Amino acid sequence: MAEELVVTPWEVKGKVDYDKLIKQFGTSPITAELEKSLVSVTGEDNIFLRRKLFYSHRDLDKAIADFKGGKGIYLYTGVGPSNPMHIGHLVPFFFTKWLQEKFGVNLYIQVTDDEKFVFKRERTLEHITKVADDDIRNIAAVGFDPDKTFIFKDTEYIDHIYKLALKVSREMNYSQVKSVFGFNNMTNVGLMFFPSLEIVPTMFEKKRCLIPDAIDQDPYWRLQRDMAEKLGYHKAAQIHSKFIPPLTGVEGKMSASKPETAIYLTDDEKTVKSKIMKYAFSGGQESVEMHRKLGGNVDVDVSFLWLRDFFEPDDEKMAQIEKDYRSGKMLTGELKQMLVDKVNALLTKHRANKEKADSAIEKIKYSGKLAQKMWETTFE
Ligand code: TYM
Repeated sequence: MAEELVVTPWEVKGKVDYDKLIKQFGTSPITAELEKSLVSVTGEDNIFLRRKLFYSHRDLDKAIADFKGGKGIYLYTGVGPSNPMHIGHLVPFFFTKWLQEKFGVNLYIQVTDDEKFVFKRERTLEHITKVADDDIRNIAAVGFDPDKTFIFKDTEYIDHIYKLALKVSREMNYSQVKSVFGFNNMTNVGLMFFPSLEIVPTMFEKKRCLIPDAIDQDPYWRLQRDMAEKLGYHKAAQIHSKFIPPLTGVEGKMSASKPETAIYLTDDEKTVKSKIMKYAFSGGQESVEMHRKLGGNVDVDVSFLWLRDFFEPDDEKMAQIEKDYRSGKMLTGELKQMLVDKVNALLTKHRANKEKADSAIEKIKYSGKLAQKMWETTFE
């Protein structure tokens, strides 16, 4: 029997039916017209949009209108530091970088060390701090505008946001967080208060905030949108992606806590190759003869899906790969090798950027224009 579908910020289980999630969460699909309008305002096409990885939204049309009409918008995204980052985590950050470049607007990046501490009892704050600092290095390596980006760890920046978090927390009751996040009687009170913190950055400016993320973060924004106007802020807009699937098959999501499902940003070339060769779920046939005859199934082949969604931006090449794999001309081993080369090229570049990230970290944490302004502000 198929596993039940569960999508919360902390768990993704079962085969994700993305259309069903749109209905269940009450978001809207990104129509061809809306995609066109975003591409026209940014002036450039984007692989994640073209390949429909970003597929759902709330008020993206309003965010575009606010930008075009001069009211302005800002961007907000984040990471929860529990395990080392994997390539799925790069999706929202790459897309956010593109949006910041095109819109030229401020970006706030929240590192929820508090969330990850309260979520699992066995984790120490010391461990989480180490992971958080490494996440910040990875994020700085993506290359955001140093004067328009502020990255902060909740435990470090809390003095400045606690009052606003209190206001937010008063607007949510147990019954709401229970139904939105699936909390129960055993959920600790730290986790119950935490949603207030993730909502706070949607109120950093009196402009509409646009949040790029995967759809698992949506529950926070549903709550935000119920209270924002009451508190004198805008309802936040979102642009949601699907998940990069786990290496092991199309169910669930690539998860940092399951090493066989993920390629970590720290995996070296040999590890990448052996993980993909060993674990990447194949839509190929059992023998070469059968494969040549019947061809591969691109709907379930994880190497194909990773190339399509993330790693092969050339549309013509991608169409050729699809044709050759479907027809059986291309074998699973060849497809996997293609993916290995692409992933290793990306990670090599990422690691080099990470080595050089010191001054970018200093700027986006403390000394860039936006960072400095934030340290001078206490949100009431
Ligand atoms: P976290 O650390 O679970 O995930 C960080 C970001 O990566 C997205 N994501 C994925 N995207 C594509 N494919 C995947 N397999 C995949 N797995 C995770 C997540 O949706 C997220 O955008 N509570 C948050 C941190 C946070 C945040 C935010 C995220 C704080 N404020 C605002 C987004 C927007 C968390 O633990 O994310």
